[in-house]
Amino acid sequence: MHRKEFIKTCGLACLGGVGLTVLLEGCASTNYFAQNTNSGKQITIRKTEFIKIEKEKQVQRKYVLVKPENLNFPICIYSFVDGSYSALPMQCTHKGCELQPNGDSLICPCHGSEFSNKGIVKNPPAEENLKPLKITTDNENIYIQL
Ligand code: FES
Repeated sequence: MHRKEFIKTCGLACLGGVGLTVLLEGCASTNYFAQNTNSGKQITIRKTEFIKIEKEKQVQRKYVLVKPENLNFPICIYSFVDGSYSALPMQCTHKGCELQPNGDSLICPCHGSEFSNKGIVKNPPAEENLKPLKITTDNENIYIQL
């Protein structure tokens, strides 16, 4: 290999590495998995999981994800301005693929179904809404019944 080709190859490899790092960092900040305790039938999440610090300011997250050990799919918990929450199992009602959060919606990567942050079908082919899990709260925590 000539010197020029070697330098060009190394340069492209470095750019690829930098691009991959940026991409992975972007993914990490997109899907935040909350700390939780799981008693088998109930998940406990601290309300502070919805608060993040950006540029020294407190910012409210729209949602957090949890992955209970005893479930095959994560749960997406949305926070609303009125202080309420919704907890949605992230399994598409069409053919069972894992949903991806996208702002106020959950999108299915398999065939494109979309659900609202309350589990209502916004776009087919899914016809059945998601079944929100039962939630109770106190001053500090959110309790989700499995
Ligand atoms: S499995 Fe989700 S749209 Fe088909």
